[in-house]
Amino acid sequence: MSKKGRRPDFDTYYQDLFGSRWEGLKKAMDADPRYTELQQGLLKPYYLDAASLFPVQALNVEQAKNILDLCAAPGGKALAIAGNMGPEANLTVNDRSSQRRSRLRRVLDEHLASDALSRITVTAHDASRWGLYEQNLYDRVLADVPCSSERHLVKEPKHLKDWSPARTRHLAMQAYAILAAGFTALKPGGILVYSTCALSPKENDEVIAKLLKRRGDSCRPIMTGSETGEATEYGRIILPDRANGMGPIYYASVAKNEAF
Ligand SMILES: C[S@@+](CC[C@H](N)C(=O)[O-])C[C@H]1O[C@@H](n2cnc3c(N)ncnc32)[C@H](O)[C@@H]1O
Repeated sequence: MSKKGRRPDFDTYYQDLFGSRWEGLKKAMDADPRYTELQQGLLKPYYLDAASLFPVQALNVEQAKNILDLCAAPGGKALAIAGNMGPEANLTVNDRSSQRRSRLRRVLDEHLASDALSRITVTAHDASRWGLYEQNLYDRVLADVPCSSERHLVKEPKHLKDWSPARTRHLAMQAYAILAAGFTALKPGGILVYSTCALSPKENDEVIAKLLKRRGDSCRPIMTGSETGEATEYGRIILPDRANGMGPIYYASVAKNEAF
């Protein structure tokens, strides 16, 4: 055990993934994150990890009419979407946790003017079941899924006891269920952005690879034009040791082909 009580298997797992980079990456995650001030379209600024804005940029909401944020609380990315969406657009923000949904409502109420609020609907569904009820409806879907959140574990070692490779696999399965449901809800021609704050490819590229394998004919990856962070097979990952403290954030975009 290290002095912060980290379980050796946590370090071993990430050393296997990152090799000699792991110690520096862990140190960068233990430092204060780099916050940015979100202001566009808001009544007052909201502060969030600067890397969180990249998945929203990739969503490209300016021309979209119907937008769905499947896992929205506490609401940083929802505010960024609301600040960039067009005057006719509607945004549905969903979160299954009632406690986190209350915080989401408060964040929206405090930061958005009544016109934007009137075009936002807050819902309380299990995102992994969304596709059973709505199909081919949204121009843009954001699936910012629950994940291992290793930065949080490094900063709050008391939560490390909850970490295990099996939990990573479980979260990856849950993430896939949410991603697949979001893809079903996406209109042909629409764009879905999948994002996590996880380090492991199991929760990142491998989840996208599964979607492409299972929905191959209807689905194609879109590579982002951004140069921030590091390219992965299907998206980009922004890691704090090489991005001035931003991240971790992984994001990847997929489009639904017109014929579906
Ligand atoms: C990474 S956080 C979302 C952060 C948020 N997008 C933001 O930018 O502020 C993941 C959220 O997913 C919610 N969640 C977990 N499982 C869910 C499910 N099956 N359906 C809907 N929401 C879920 C959690 O309550 C949590 O608020």
